Parts: sequence; structure tokens; C-alpha cells
Amino acid sequence: MVVPVPTDLDAYWMPFTANRQFKKAPRLLVGADRLYYTTHDGRQVMDTISGLWCVNAGHNRPRIVEAIRRQVGEMDYAPPFQMAHPQVFELATRLAGLFPDGLEHVFFTNSGSESVETALKIALAAHRARGEPGRFRLIGRERGYHGVNFGGLSVGGIGANRKAFGPLLPGVDHLRHTHAPERNAFSRGLPEHGAEFADDLERLIALHDPSTIAAVIVEPVAGSTGVLLPPRGYLERLRALCTRHGIFLIFDEVITGFGRLGAPFATHAFGVTPDLVTVAKGLTNGVVPMGAVIASRGIHDAFMNGPGEGIEFFHGYTYSGNPIATAAALATLDTYAEEGLLTRGPELAGFWEDSLHALRGLPHVIDIRNYGLVGAIELDPIPGQPTQRATQAFLKAYEAGFLIRTTGDTIALAPPLIAEREDLARLVEGLATILRTLD
Ligand SMILES: Cc1ncc(COP(=O)(O)O)c(C=O)c1O
Repeated sequence: MVVPVPTDLDAYWMPFTANRQFKKAPRLLVGADRLYYTTHDGRQVMDTISGLWCVNAGHNRPRIVEAIRRQVGEMDYAPPFQMAHPQVFELATRLAGLFPDGLEHVFFTNSGSESVETALKIALAAHRARGEPGRFRLIGRERGYHGVNFGGLSVGGIGANRKAFGPLLPGVDHLRHTHAPERNAFSRGLPEHGAEFADDLERLIALHDPSTIAAVIVEPVAGSTGVLLPPRGYLERLRALCTRHGIFLIFDEVITGFGRLGAPFATHAFGVTPDLVTVAKGLTNGVVPMGAVIASRGIHDAFMNGPGEGIEFFHGYTYSGNPIATAAALATLDTYAEEGLLTRGPELAGFWEDSLHALRGLPHVIDIRNYGLVGAIELDPIPGQPTQRATQAFLKAYEAGFLIRTTGDTIALAPPLIAEREDLARLVEGLATILRTLD
């Protein structure tokens, strides 16, 4: 079925989009089921990026659809300040139960960006509550993506996202990024070289004095900048340094959470436990906006001092723990559990790795990276025209029936965790054909 393109495309200012180019040749999605979108011109395209790294259980999942319907008919909204509804407690308990012991308390938000702002604020306020108000510095990492609000932008390390917005937050510094293709290109799984990049934190500690540093925030796998995997031993070293110097470690698991790496969270996949974790996206299977911060017992308890009738943390959102989002999240966790999706990675990871690495040697392919059910194919940029080759791949893939995501000159892949081997094989075959036709 063909759905007509709206006659007036002008008013809608699209996010992270080449608006003028898009509006000349719109790509509209009008339906979605399991692994496939239906386009406005009536085609089926495979969703190879789980919507936007969020639809981990695939589209149109009956439990989630039904839970939302039921909840909206029962109670549409409940204020979250000095009030609550029963299900949000259940969700917090179940979510905390997915994490290693010690990560025990959940603060709800509505997006990854809000989760990051919340985690940074919790880190600062916790140090203050513990009698260390001098810890005000926040450390991010080059090439990091932590959303688009001012805190996340400040600790983020993607130049294009930052440069239009002035000085951002004061007291922020950045670790060097961990991408080292000269030593690690075509690694299968975690790259062998680069654990020592974590020692860059020692440089910042020496420069600023550790007693001024509140927190280090990193994506365990940097997603938006092109799927940069942590070198073997890197996160362990970062953890040890943070612990030694009383600095909180924040894992931004907005992309890595909910099964993407073949384990429930990166903290399990890599065996490193941070003090705070940010999540969003897969929490509701992308269906309703919701995010959360999971905090350690120690951090949470630092706030629970003083008179019991006072508000402990002056922070929250109108939609924190919204009943519809909560219903969607509970049904999502049920779906993940029933289908074993949070731990499905090992079943598919070997096949995924072999299939992706078979693309080595095709024109312009300069690196292939993979872990769990995430992958990246990095292309040699066209001289003087960075990103253009990958954009070409995106457009050709869409015509060929695959919705892929590109960032810089990297094709990032994160299919829904319900994909079967045949689906992955079809995707990689399709990509091979596209790669052979790129300029
Ligand atoms: C690691 C990470 N943090 C934060 C965000 C921001 O999430 P949102 O777009 O929901 O604000 C993203 C989004 O892709 C992300 O990948």
C-alpha cells in the first residue's frame, strides 16, 4: 500500500537530519512488525539498527502493545513528586535486580540525555552530601556521546555536536579516545591493544588533583561515534583508578544495555561494575520514552541523611516513572525474559562475527568491529568529502531494503535481538552487494 507524502513538509524541523536534502526526497516509515519496517512507498525494509538502538525485541510485540493499551485505559498519568503508583516500584525492583549487587536504586527519567544529566547531578550532589563539595570536575572522553543536553554535551567528545554552543559546563575535561585502528583494525571482539589509554586519567588526576574530580563517564562501547570497543583491560584499569582516587565511575549504557552485547548490560559483559549506570532506549523497547539511572547503595544512602521529612534530592521530571512508560517497560522486561533476549548474544555472536568479517577485502572497507549483536564497518572516506561514502551506502541500502545507520564513514549495525541467522546472513549479503557499488 502506498501512503501519500504530506503536502507540507516545511513546519517540521527534523532532528539530526539534513532537512533540505530529506524534504526533496522524503523517506517515510508507516508500519513496523518484528524485523521489518513498511515504507510509504509500500516496501519492506529490514531494521538493522533496532530503530535507533532501542527496539531490541523487534517491533509490534504483543505484550508491550497490550500493556500500554491496558494502562492508558486504567490510569493515564500520575504525578511523581510526593506521589507514586504501584507499578513503578515493581519496575525499579526488577530493573535493579538485573544489575550486580550494590547497584540497587533507580531514578527514572525520559531519555538517555536526561539519564546522563541526572547521573552527573547525582555524582556531584553525592560527593557534597558525603562532605566533599570540592569534587566538582566531570571527566568525559573524546568521541563520547552522552546526549544533547548541556551536561551530556560538555562531557561528550563529538566536535560537531559541541561547537555551536559556546563554553558549555566549566570544570570538564576529557580522556583520550580509545580508537587505534593502526594496531587494532579487524579485531574480532575486544581489541588487544590499548588498555594503557586508561592511564590518561592519571594525567588528568595529576593536572587537576583527584580531590576535585567527581566522576568519570564513559560509554563501555562508544556507539554513536562508530562502535568503538574498549581495548582488553581498559575498563578494569579505569575502574581501579577511579576507586583508588574516590572518583565515581559512570557507565552510559544507553546503547549497550538490554542485551546488545550478548549479556544484559556491559557491566556483565566486561565484568566491571560502575557506581552509576544510565539506561534508556531498550528499557521500553523504544516504544514509549523512558530512561533511568541505577545508583549504588553507597551513593543513594549518602542522600538519606538529615530529617526524614525533607526532600533529599532536588531533581525530577514531570514524566519520571510515567504509568504508560512503566507499563511498557514491565512488558518489555517480560518479553526479554520469556524469549531469553538479554543473553541471546552468545548464540548469534560467533555467526555474526564470521559473517561480518567476511566483508573484509571489499572495496573501501578499512576496519570491521563486532561484539555481541553490534557491528561496524568503517569505510575509507572519499578524499575531501568525509561522511559522503557512508551516506551513499545508507541511501543505496535503503533502496535495497535495509535501514542501516551511518556515523562519520562508519556503518553501524545493531539488529533486533530476535534476528535469526538467516536474517543476519541476508543483511550481510545485501551489504556486500552495496559495498561493491560504492564510488
Ligand atoms: C550512549 C548514549 N547516551 C545518551 C544518549 C542520548 O539518548 P536520547 O537520545 O534518548 O536522549 C544516546 C543516544 O543515542 C547514547 O547513545
